[in-house]
Amino acid sequence: MQTRLDRFISEALAISRADAKKLISKSAVTVNGTVVKKSDIKVDTDTDEIKANGKSLTHEQFVYIMLNKPAGVVSASTDKNDVTVIDLVKDEFPRRNLFPAGRLDKTSTGFVLITDDGRFAHDILSPKHHVPKSYTVTVDSPVTDRVVQAFRDGVTLADGQLMKSAQIIPSQDGYTAQIILHQGVYHQIKRMLGVFDIGVNTLHRTAIGRLELPDSLSPGEYIKLTQQQLSLITSDMFTEN
Ligand code: URA
Repeated sequence: MQTRLDRFISEALAISRADAKKLISKSAVTVNGTVVKKSDIKVDTDTDEIKANGKSLTHEQFVYIMLNKPAGVVSASTDKNDVTVIDLVKDEFPRRNLFPAGRLDKTSTGFVLITDDGRFAHDILSPKHHVPKSYTVTVDSPVTDRVVQAFRDGVTLADGQLMKSAQIIPSQDGYTAQIILHQGVYHQIKRMLGVFDIGVNTLHRTAIGRLELPDSLSPGEYIKLTQQQLSLITSDMFTEN
């Protein structure tokens, strides 16, 4: 891809365009081994070797971030009243058009994927592709075998919508459960359990696909995902005709 040198440097190093220009004018940037002091030259991000302070830079077209969403933060890009998931990460990615790929309720916690790759987001959210999402819930009355069976068969919500088959694995006392969904309907778990008069006390997303939220990532913390980690999200993806 062809792009201006200062733009490439600012994206690769996550610095402002002005700081990228300064770096270039200080002779800190080389293109194919030659110091370049002009910011507006065009470089080819696929074939040119670009270094800043001797370190090779590669162009990342998109970023993918795993955030452990704390309770009270909303899964939106902007909000008038509440802190958003984007507010928690944006300082490190000032020039990216980031958005959450999928939502958790304000009171829910856990894995939210944030990216600027619209196509990837669409792919993993499409109910046709069945990317599973895993949750741990605590509830106010026990999950019984009847509920387990109903989740497997497909729960009909109060408004008549039939949900796809889902898995629910209750703890011995039934007050905690692991849930795996293959679609994302607004308030889905609360509404599915609501059919059985079970109220959700806490809801935490633990994994998307095979990529698990590590225990070491505290609420509010985030990490940039590698290609290898991303492939764990899509490894079981298939397309329904
Ligand atoms: N289902 C819900 O009810 N809430 C969430 O945040 C996620 C799934």
